[in-house]
Amino acid sequence: MDLIIEIAYLVSSVLFIMGLKKLSSPKTARQGNFISAVGMLLAIIVTLLDRHVLTYEWIIVGVIVGSSIGALMAVKVPMTGMPQMVGLLNGFGGLASTLVALAEFDKIAPAIPLNTGIAIILSLLIGGITFTGSVIAFGKLQGLVTGKVVKYPGQHPLNAFLLLVVIAAGIYIVINPDSFMFVLVVTGVSLVLGVLLVLPIGGADMPVAISLLNSYSGIAASTTGFVLGNNELIIAGALVGASGIILTLIMCRGMNRSLMNVLLGGWESAGVVPAQASQTSANITVKSVDSEEAAMIFDAAQSVIIVPGYGMAVAQAQHAVRDLVNILEKKGILVRFAIHPVAGRMPGHMNVLLAEANIPYDKLLAMEDINDDFANTDISLIIGANDVVNPAARHDQASPIYGMPILNADKSKTVVIIKRSMNPGYAGIENELFGYPNALMYFGDAKEAISKLSHEIKQL
Ligand code: TAP
Repeated sequence: MDLIIEIAYLVSSVLFIMGLKKLSSPKTARQGNFISAVGMLLAIIVTLLDRHVLTYEWIIVGVIVGSSIGALMAVKVPMTGMPQMVGLLNGFGGLASTLVALAEFDKIAPAIPLNTGIAIILSLLIGGITFTGSVIAFGKLQGLVTGKVVKYPGQHPLNAFLLLVVIAAGIYIVINPDSFMFVLVVTGVSLVLGVLLVLPIGGADMPVAISLLNSYSGIAASTTGFVLGNNELIIAGALVGASGIILTLIMCRGMNRSLMNVLLGGWESAGVVPAQASQTSANITVKSVDSEEAAMIFDAAQSVIIVPGYGMAVAQAQHAVRDLVNILEKKGILVRFAIHPVAGRMPGHMNVLLAEANIPYDKLLAMEDINDDFANTDISLIIGANDVVNPAARHDQASPIYGMPILNADKSKTVVIIKRSMNPGYAGIENELFGYPNALMYFGDAKEAISKLSHEIKQL
């Protein structure tokens, strides 16, 4: 029986790896998700068949309660609230690792082998940090906790001291594996550390922090795998930990952040600040067009690059965008999308929305693949994007987004920008592009504005 279980775990791990591989391209992502889900189902069934399971009643109650809450959240939470939901789910992963480690200590103490003791301490530390850190991250994104960078004297020495307390108490537990009191100290201090590490991070960096916490939840699961002697958990946790770190690095690069900054909890407050510190656009004179005028410009074009941003998500304009693309293509116009790595509010935000509207993947081009084409394009149509096309990132050293790579939309012959007002985006700064000679503002809610534009183009 043990051999069958181990083989099934191995098969399921291979399915996870194959699924992850396929998730790396939008074309194969659905298939990847399915393969990983089959792997997870296999892992769950095998674990439930494992003779170590003592009672099924509590498991069934847990499955029913957890699935009901999960299904309700998935239906209720809007797309724009996804980052905080993902954040909270990571936190639950951390909490689960903490609880399993506590239960296992209670079950096997004092006869705890050295390696299991170390794994228990690591599970408590990483799981605890992940749980409270994720709760704070959720609070920041939900507006329940300040989104500002929080700094106070002695912040980093205090964190270092608390980490030393955990290490010292951990060593004590490993040497004297009967001290539940010290286990509680490790747990409590780790929970406090989670709060102190994430609280200083500004709201703008929170998605990077969430991605990092996602990685932590995987590492915590992996250490819990060592606690339980469960190979599947070790492998699956390591996969989550590694892919989470890769995603964190990609996001750091996209936002021009150093990983150290996020790892150490707001070590320096450089970079984008959220929109509280917004500037007005008093210095910029803009030209605006209505739907009719915009339609005539599109009618004369041969190539269009659409730059979607957060506003498209807010307006849920993706279906209207697809209709517009169909109309333009019927007129023989080449239409492509330029996707900035941090457009919107979560990784892959634009890809998910556009896929939902059945826009073919091969029309979605990553920044590095399309940035040189803007100069040869008739129209850049910017839909609810702002920071990701702000040329200040290239030259204004005083700008909080200085150094962030941007889409070269300003280089196309005409830039049509759809947004509701002159309000800034996430970084809270004005966008000089709106005042450029080739820029035309088309004010309105993205969905409405695009529907009107499509209607007008059809009339021509
Ligand atoms: P933003 O710079 O945030 O700009 C979005 C624009 O959409 C706003 O200026 C807003 O202007 C407009 N808008 C809002 N609702 C709209 C609606 N219903 N219809 C039309 N327009 C609407 O967005 P972006 O260019 O996508 O840049 C993303 C920003 O978020 C970057 O600064 C990035 O660093 C940050 N960030 C990204 C992530 C990830 S992982 N993607 C995570 C955290 C932070 P009006 O109010 O005038 O309409």
